[in-house]
Amino acid sequence: MSLVNIYGEFSCAKFLCPAYKYCMCGIVGYSGSQNAKAIVMDGLRTLEYRGYDSAGVALGGDRLKVFKTAGRVNALDAMLPAGGACHTAIGHTRWATHGKPNAVNAHPHLSYDKKIAVVHNGVLENCAELKSELAGKGISCVSETDSELLAHLLALEGGDMLEAVRRVGGKAKGSATFLAIREGDPAVYVFRKGASMLVAKGEYGSFAASDGLALARYVGTATVLQDDEYARITHDVCAIFKDGARIFKSSTPLRVSPPKECACHMRAEIDEIPAALERTYLKVSEALDDELADRVRRAKRVMLAGCGTAFHACRYGKLLLEQMAGICAEAVAASEADEGAPVDGDTLALFVTQSGETADTLLAMKRCAEGGAYTVAVTNVESSGAALAADKTLFLDAGAEVAVAATKSYCCQLLAVNMLARRVAGDILREEELKKLTNGAKECIARCELFEKRMLTDKLFLVGRGQDLVTAKEGALKLKEITYRQAEAYAAGELKHGPIALIDSESTVIALATREDCLPRMRATVSELRSRGAYVVGLSGAGDLGADKTVFLPSLEDVTLRPILCVLPLQELALCSSLCLGLDPDKPRNLAKSVTVI
Ligand code: F6R
Repeated sequence: MSLVNIYGEFSCAKFLCPAYKYCMCGIVGYSGSQNAKAIVMDGLRTLEYRGYDSAGVALGGDRLKVFKTAGRVNALDAMLPAGGACHTAIGHTRWATHGKPNAVNAHPHLSYDKKIAVVHNGVLENCAELKSELAGKGISCVSETDSELLAHLLALEGGDMLEAVRRVGGKAKGSATFLAIREGDPAVYVFRKGASMLVAKGEYGSFAASDGLALARYVGTATVLQDDEYARITHDVCAIFKDGARIFKSSTPLRVSPPKECACHMRAEIDEIPAALERTYLKVSEALDDELADRVRRAKRVMLAGCGTAFHACRYGKLLLEQMAGICAEAVAASEADEGAPVDGDTLALFVTQSGETADTLLAMKRCAEGGAYTVAVTNVESSGAALAADKTLFLDAGAEVAVAATKSYCCQLLAVNMLARRVAGDILREEELKKLTNGAKECIARCELFEKRMLTDKLFLVGRGQDLVTAKEGALKLKEITYRQAEAYAAGELKHGPIALIDSESTVIALATREDCLPRMRATVSELRSRGAYVVGLSGAGDLGADKTVFLPSLEDVTLRPILCVLPLQELALCSSLCLGLDPDKPRNLAKSVTVI
């Protein structure tokens, strides 16, 4: 993949955390009195959702020891020697951007003299330039990665390691967040450019990691490094520097709990949806104010942008703003946001992003901010780039979501935009209504009635209208992501304009209906599909659809909240199908949780 920075540098001062570039890895480091290997391996397990092509660790001491492998952290664990106490270590879990995901390309990379080991999160844009500089000095690379260059450059600098880190970090263009250790030196050296990095001092040593989840087991607070800041962390100090001088920064509470060990995170995250909805309700109620509602009402243009599942939440939000509050809104895929008319100061742009790190979303946000738009982030990570950059944040508090397929965060995003649309319409969601929703969600999750073996097919279709089309699209995405089977969602009324040609007796169609007013037209669609031989399963919160079988949702008075229930059987279906096919739903192929590449 050729990755060039076509976006130039941020000119907007608000974008202090430009994790929008090309980095989809997790890195972690520790220096202290405890077992560094165990702590770093524990961190890698927590960060594995950020990339799981390959993994590696470097253990410090009089001689550096590097272990790395293609595949998962468990494979790395199996190759590590027992014992081998050391007090300094760095580790990496990778989603490949440069070079195949094999052991040679896995991090850490050693310098030519084997005295320095580096793990890197990012992509060096001046890789070719740096490579030829090294070649001129007779140094060649053993891997296909750009990251290896950093290790050689550090070794070439020689002298004071902290100064070498500053110089090499400064020389690197693009995104270059890295950790380095040197033989015979107890410290871990940290440099941040482009990709997120937190450092923290705990009772038994200091830590560095690309996200707070890896630290939360050991420390309560951490310091978020900004671009071009670097650090030397040891058992006793966690010293941060910029431009050659030590700086003192405040640390922020890590309001995240590391996910508990469990056989299937997606299962646990679906089960947690009722509780997550309650937390979102509280947080969003606190943050929603008249000022925001007024801004939405007064804006000449209201735009909602996000990617993948978050984009589906945007489509739902657009419908509700229009239907509940009479506000014309547009929902755009953040990756396509710059294809439309440029925004200006009369625009309110709302960005939905679970991680707050998605590169396409951050870039769209940057463009909107530069155009003068008022920006709102709906995110699940309080310290994320999106939250730091936005004028206003609605924090979801869904809890850490580590399964790649978004489930609980989607339901919480729907709830948050529903509450916003109500507020704009001069209404609020009452606690009794929330209670009915969470009770309904509990019932849906307990029932799990949709799955049938014949749904393990490439001829699966989902159809619906309006808010149900949004749910159909989200269901199809979930199925594709974790079953690798073709599942397509269509607007029910559009079938007869083309896609119905695909339907035959091999086809299974899930027909969604959560609105009573849609029933007559959905019944007509179901009848058309059945007469062409399709097996049709209704998923209904509104009434009978005349399908071969119908799964009824728990009754819920509020029509606009029914999509939050309706998506649950589809999430369950995707999960059951994935497990039935013997796949790992938590870590589907070719994907990683935070897509921080453009
Ligand atoms: C789907 C999924 C992705 C994400 C998308 C945006 O299950 O998880 O489609 O929704 O990559 O991620 P965030 O919400 O972190 O911006």
